[in-house]
Order: sequence, then structure tokens, then C-alpha cells
Amino acid sequence: MLMEVCCKKRTHQPLQYIGISIGKVYLREPMQKPTFYPTRPLPYGRQHITDADVAAVTAALQSDYLTQGPTVDEFEKQFAAYVGATYAVAVSNGTAALHLCTLALDVQPGQRVITTPLTFAASANCVRYCGGEVHFADINPTTGLIDLLKVRQLLEAHPKGHFTGLIPVDFAGLAVDLEAARQLADEFGLWIIEDSCHAPGGFFLDSKGQEQRCGNGNFADLAIFSFHPVKHIATGEGGMITTNDEQLFHHLLRLRTHGITRDPADLQREPDGGWYMEMQELGYNYRMPDLNCALGLSQLTRADAGLARRRELAAQYDAAFAQVPGVGVLAPGRPGHAYHLYVIEIADRKGLYDFLKTRQIFTQVHYIPVHRMPYYEGLGWRAGDFPLVEKYYAHCLSIPLFPTLTDEEQDYVVACITEFVSASHAI
Ligand SMILES: Cc1ncc(COP(=O)(O)O)c(C=O)c1O
Repeated sequence: MLMEVCCKKRTHQPLQYIGISIGKVYLREPMQKPTFYPTRPLPYGRQHITDADVAAVTAALQSDYLTQGPTVDEFEKQFAAYVGATYAVAVSNGTAALHLCTLALDVQPGQRVITTPLTFAASANCVRYCGGEVHFADINPTTGLIDLLKVRQLLEAHPKGHFTGLIPVDFAGLAVDLEAARQLADEFGLWIIEDSCHAPGGFFLDSKGQEQRCGNGNFADLAIFSFHPVKHIATGEGGMITTNDEQLFHHLLRLRTHGITRDPADLQREPDGGWYMEMQELGYNYRMPDLNCALGLSQLTRADAGLARRRELAAQYDAAFAQVPGVGVLAPGRPGHAYHLYVIEIADRKGLYDFLKTRQIFTQVHYIPVHRMPYYEGLGWRAGDFPLVEKYYAHCLSIPLFPTLTDEEQDYVVACITEFVSASHAI
């Protein structure tokens, strides 16, 4: 007997999935074998490495430069063009990118910076690396993004100059309205670092209806990206900073390599030979090797295709879950969404997480709110400080979304979730 899953059914037997048809998920009574089982575990995200990627890395290995070579410059140039920024600086990972940004913006001990509690800890930690104080503004629960009205309230509650910067995060791939953020930042004298680790290729529509790509530098002072394997562009480890500010660009180049410069235009002393260079400030080794940049360049050629597939899969999930009571979707159908993550919200999140594991589906929670981490609680933050993100955290689950996820695998994920929800909704 076929039934639509929106019918509430009293059963403790798992229903079995037979297919999806135009947004409706059909299940049949147990006993029959499912028509499809995945042949591989399904994580929430997975890198895609092609023969062309392998060839690109092999060529880099056989070249004269394993690091500090021309592939780094080429990756920077092409990545900048991809996001529409003037300058890009490749670095060893997204965290290093954030650290260099706070250094370049001269964050000083005690300076206060606002970010979202719904992010990976690195978005906040970069302020702590410089001795700054991290402050949070709660999220808009329909988007998962920092609520700019709450940021305004926080800013208005203090004298101007109390806060020095804002780090909005394009959470899950949905772009923050940086035009609005810039207006706010200008009013209160803040710099902006856009944490766009989740959103290469994403955009928001500005007040004129124009697409503004994440990291294009039109509104934020600096933007950062990560090339961790679950991200859109996967290089193992790797990161990028983009900006339209020439001075910041040159400063970042120096900070990335120990604070050293060889640029004749920047030297403070007369060179005493061809080897001459100056360490002018305290920097780090945050360089990205040519090997990783070669992989990044190769992956960049598929970035648009990967993004299109992520959006297609997300639209299919949206349609399927619209038919499943008890499954909420974070920010469905938003233009410009880059879909690093596909997040559902469900009453019994732990139950679903555990159940899906038994079906070889490995979901993840993004994120435990940063202010609830023991380290940040040690700095004075408490449960209840940001109720909207805490409520979101209690129910969110990131389900498989990556370009090589097949339609059949996706149908299986939907069916398993539907099966769990149908059983737990049974009255
Ligand atoms: C929002 C966000 N910011 C920063 C980072 C740090 O990037 P990385 O892991 O490359 O250091 C990540 C990575 O997970 C992230 O998701």
C-alpha cells in the first residue's frame, strides 16, 4: 500500500522508501526490500578530486617550485577574478587568513569586535589572537545570519568607538547583506572582515538589485575563504584573503612571510647586495604551497559547475521536505545561496542523527554556538545570552550536500529522514 508521508501513521516499524515523485515522497509498508542502498557512506560534505586535479598537482610536484612559486600568484589572480576582487593573498588555511586580517587591521588588546555566535570558533578566535574582546550579536533564525538589527542595538547601547570591528559570516553559504552592514559600520566607525569560508560564488542582491559576490571587496575591508576538504574548493589545507585595498594587500603579503619584504619600494635601508631583505615587523609563515595552489587552480575551473549542482540538490531537498511535516529547512530558496551546508531543523535532532548513522548517513551539527564553548564561557559568556542561536542549535542538522551526491543517494537521504520523522510523529 502506498501512502504519502504527510499522512500521520501509527507505526513503530520503519517505513521503506520507494521513490520521490514531483516533490512527494512515497513510502510503502515494510517487508519489501528498498530499491536502493548507497554503496558508500554519505557524509555531510565530501571533496571531489578528478584526474585533472591529480595531473595538476603532479605537474606542480615536478616543477621547480613546491612553494613560493608562480602557481601561488596564478591561483591568487584567478581566485580574485572569480570573486570579483582586485587583490587576493593565498594563505595556509582560513584561520591563518582571519589572523592576518586582524593583524593587518591592527586589532589591539582590549579592542572590541562583534561577530556571530553561529560560526566556527576561528571567526571569533582571530580577535583573541590579538588580545581583542569578542562580542556577539544573536542570529536571525530564518537565515542563520547575524541579525544586523541586533548589531545596531548593541552599537547604540555604547558610545561611538566602543567597538572597532565587525566579522559577519556567510553562514552555510548564504551571503550577509554587506551593503547594510557597511552602512552600519560607517556610522559607527567599524572595519568589516567578511568570513566567507562557506560562500565562494555566493552573492546577495544590493539595494539596486545588483548581484554582489561574496568577497568582492565592495563593502567589506577584507574577506576570507577556506579550502578545507568539505569546502567548495578543496586543497587539503588552504585559505585566501581578498580585498580592494592596495595598502592592506601589501601589508598582508608581508605579514604572511614573517613581516619580511624585498620590494625595493618598501625598503627602509639601502640594500647591501642582491640578497637584501628586511624584516620590518613581526609576521608569520602562513604561506600556501604551490602544490595546494595547483589543486586549487584545477578545482577553480569546476567551481561554477559544483555550485550549480549544490543549488540543484538544495532545490530538490527544499521540494521534498516541503512535503514532510516535522522537518524545517533553514533559509530555503534564497537567491545567491552557495550551499556549503544544507541545514534542516527537527525536534528530535539527536534521535535523527543517531538513526541516520545506522543508515550510513553521517550528518553534522553546525555549530555549537561559540559563546557556549568552555573557553568563551571562561571569558564570561553564559547559556541564555543568545537565545535564538541556542534554540537553533538544539534542532539543527547538516545533511549530505556535495556536488558528487547522486540523485539516488539524495532520495535515499530524504527517505531515511522521512522514515524517522513519520515514525516519531506517529500518534
Ligand atoms: C566559517 C568558518 N570560518 C573559518 C574557518 C577556518 O578555516 P580553516 O579550517 O581553513 O582554518 C572555517 C573552517 O571550517 C569556517 O567554517
